[in-house]
Amino acid sequence: MSAPDEYVFPPTPELIACPWAAYTKLRESRPVYQAPGGEYVISRYEDLWPIYKNNAIFASRDRTGHTTKNFNEVPEPDHMERRRLLAPSVAPYPLQRYEPVARAFANELIDGFVDRGEVDFINEFAFPFSTYVVSGILGLDRRRDYDRLMRWGTGFEGSAKDYIGEERRTGSLDRWGEIYDYGREQIEERLAEPRDDLLTELIEARREKKGEVDVEAMGSDLGGFIAAGMHTTANMISDTMRMLLQHPDVMADVRADRSLIPAAIEETMRHQSPVQWNVRITQEDTEVGGVHIPAGSKLILVLAAANRDESMFENPDEFNPRRESLNKHLGFGQGPHFCLGAPTARLEGRIAFDVLFDRLEQIELDEENYVHGHHVEFNGPDKMPIRFVPARVPAPAS
Ligand code: HEM
Repeated sequence: MSAPDEYVFPPTPELIACPWAAYTKLRESRPVYQAPGGEYVISRYEDLWPIYKNNAIFASRDRTGHTTKNFNEVPEPDHMERRRLLAPSVAPYPLQRYEPVARAFANELIDGFVDRGEVDFINEFAFPFSTYVVSGILGLDRRRDYDRLMRWGTGFEGSAKDYIGEERRTGSLDRWGEIYDYGREQIEERLAEPRDDLLTELIEARREKKGEVDVEAMGSDLGGFIAAGMHTTANMISDTMRMLLQHPDVMADVRADRSLIPAAIEETMRHQSPVQWNVRITQEDTEVGGVHIPAGSKLILVLAAANRDESMFENPDEFNPRRESLNKHLGFGQGPHFCLGAPTARLEGRIAFDVLFDRLEQIELDEENYVHGHHVEFNGPDKMPIRFVPARVPAPAS
């Protein structure tokens, strides 16, 4: 089957499997395209950048679809205020203290399959690993709550909720309700009995800065972290592994010089865009790329298309972790809604590959049994069998 070259929104399963040729044509011929459902689909880098930066006209709204709003869908100044209360704790430097824990989780998961010489990489490694790390950082009980965290991490649809049919939409909303209740429960437990964990720290920080703890707001912020951080990061780790396996020369380079791991991850964020698009609602009449857009319109920001825009990235279809414009990608968004979990995702990726390279050799992708995901918003596998040879030298205990 050849890849489709005509883009439609919402994307068909064929487009989801291979959207790249269609993105190129979209950028060239219809950079601001109105979809049959009325959404304006924007695909050029030069158009997306100012939209991401302008929160006043292009607002992030109606993301969960639930009456309990997450902070990324509340108007300013509330959004920025709630974001500032969280951001310092999940910045790169404070996160460094979780590196040993992340390393131990990676080793623990690999211990479970290393003797088999094969594994479904996304379901047995990337997903549980990202669930464990987010739980470990926040101080959640990863063993007791694993099943429900996984269900929420994989089953909450966010911006995709309008394009998945009524049944799945309702299921997704129910899950958001459950995540939120869980978040509130976690906050209340720590208010009653403080613990030595990040959630307790966040509660204290809020008390210090605001004089009170808003359980409702904190519960939904915690829910947002759970919902936003698992499927996305599991896809990023799986996509990076697939890109390395499909580019053996790059794999050899990165294995020989582990300091290149972050660059391989960033290039995957650009080349594969684990999240393909974001949503904005225009707050007033405006113009994008010469096209008039009325107030109240829904915009689909196809960051995955912008990440292959030749005006920003030389040879954009080439996977090249040594490219100069590496950190210009929009894979984590940009501006006031830039991904708050980017440092967490980057830490997870770096530690995961460092440990995987210690433990597994001669890794191969079982292309025949690889199943690409069918999610309208994400890019990643449903199933990703790989084969490998266990490393002869056991990893040092972590
Ligand atoms: C590779 C993994 C990830 C990808 C590709 C990703 C992607 C994104 C993107 C594109 C945005 C911008 C949304 C917009 O502008 O509408 C975003 C926002 C956000 N992400 Fe991530 N994300 C990842 C991991 C995480 C993790 C691990 C967490 C939390 C632990 C997280 C939490 C958030 C939050 C809370 C926001 C909203 C920020 C705001 O609106 O101010 N993300 N993410």
